[in-house]
This record gives sequence, C-alpha cells and structure tokens, in this order.
Amino acid sequence: MENGKFITLEGIDGAGKSTHLEWIANYLGGKGIRVLTTREPGGTQLGEHIRSLLLDHRQMMHAETETLLMFAARREHLDKVILPALNQGDWVISDRFTDASYAYQGGGRGVLIDRLQILESWVQGKFQPDLTLYFDLSIEVARRRMQSIKIADRFEKEQNDFFHRVRAAYITRASQFPERIQILDASHSIDDITDQLERILQPLLISLKP
Ligand code: ADP
Ligand code: TYD
Repeated sequence: MENGKFITLEGIDGAGKSTHLEWIANYLGGKGIRVLTTREPGGTQLGEHIRSLLLDHRQMMHAETETLLMFAARREHLDKVILPALNQGDWVISDRFTDASYAYQGGGRGVLIDRLQILESWVQGKFQPDLTLYFDLSIEVARRRMQSIKIADRFEKEQNDFFHRVRAAYITRASQFPERIQILDASHSIDDITDQLERILQPLLISLKP
C-alpha cells in the first residue's frame, strides 16, 4: 500500500492555520482520502501534557528547555501517531511541525540553528513533510484577528519584536525549501485562500488512483 502524505501548516499565531486545517481535512475527505488531523506541540497524551507546560504563561523556562520539550513531544508524536498513520495509507495534517521550532525557538528565542539541526536529525532523521503551507501575515493583522482570545498563552504574551523575528525566520525557511514550503498570503479573504489551497493541493492528488 502507498504511504499517505504528510501536510503541515505553519505561521505566526492568528495567521489562520486552524481555520484552514479544517477546510483542507474536509476537502481531502471529500476526495475519499482518509485524513488524520493533529497538532504540535501535542497530538499524543504525553505530548498534550508537555503542551500544557509549554503554553502555561506562569511557567518560566530556559529557551533550550523549551526547545527540548518541543522535540520530546515531537518524538512521541512521530512514533505514536504520524508514522503509523502514514504507513497505513492515511494522510496526516498537522497544525505546526519542525519549521515552528526553527521559527519560534530559532528566530524568536535565538536558539542556535546548529542545535536545532541536531535535534531535528535525532528525532526525525531525514523525514520531512510532503507539503508545508506557510500562512504569511503581518503581526498587526494577526493581533487584530486574535483580539477575541481572553487569556493569551506563554507565546501569545510575547511582544511584537518576538513575532517579527518569528515571521522573518519562517520566510527564511520558505526560501531555503521552496519545493516543500508554499507561501500563502494570509491577509486575503478565507474564500481566496481556499482557492489558493485547492490549486496547491492538486499535484498531490494526481498520484491518487481513480
Ligand atoms: P491560527 O490557528 O493560525 O492561530 P485561526 O485559524 O484560529 O489562526 O484564526 C484566527 C482568527 O482569525 C479566527 O477568529 C479566524 O476566524 C480568523 N480568520 C482566519 N482566517 C481569516 C481570514 N483569511 N480573514 C479574516 N479572518 C480570518
Ligand atoms: P498553536 O497550537 O498554534 O497555538 P493556539 O492553539 O493558541 O493557536 O501553537 C502553540 C504555540 O507553540 C504557538 O505559539 C507556537 C509554539 N510552538 C513553538 O514555539 N515551537 C514549536 O516547535 C511548535 C510546534 C509550536
């Protein structure tokens, strides 16, 4: 049986990932594809515990501790959820994956890229998403869209300059991996973005048997 495809969604907080993840899952489901949706940090019971520690705004931690916890949760996620699903032919769509560690821990917190690369190759070897959708949005618009959130988590409490560094790191990643990472202009309307998504997903669907 052919392996499923692994699709990841990336972008700063409020860029529209969760909204469009749901749309993609429905769209692919409508094509007869078995789809599993998941998220990082999290996606497993242990990973969700780690997520609570990472997002708790009262919990202080060193930037490298934060990085190690992200990759610990990812190791579990790959082993228990992502790889088994792909191996049985399901498609997996994850709200964030390793590019987020390069953007937030690397760009945002200043963790050395060499260290991230070591953890990446330790935890996932050469495994990479088949497609990454990067939702690019200005910090100002993202903040406006998130105004309804009552309690900001440990990342959402960061200042604008943190998110400027995160966004810049995402843009650098996209330019380093143009084959894998597709940039979407997330300032457009939801309808425009779903049109863009439909076009981007077409090549992945070609391999499907009728
Ligand atoms: P993320 O998962 O990236 O943090 P969400 O999908 O939760 O972002 O979107 C944040 C907010 O912005 C939500 O209220 C959502 O309804 C809204 N939103 C998402 N995409 C758009 C868009 N293209 N235009 C306007 N509002 C949007
Ligand atoms: P997210 O699920 O997007 O938060 P929300 O549900 O509030 O939209 O992601 C949680 C936070 O974790 C987000 O601010 C980004 C951060 N994060 C990292 O810093 N590094 C990582 O490797 C990952 C996967 C997420």
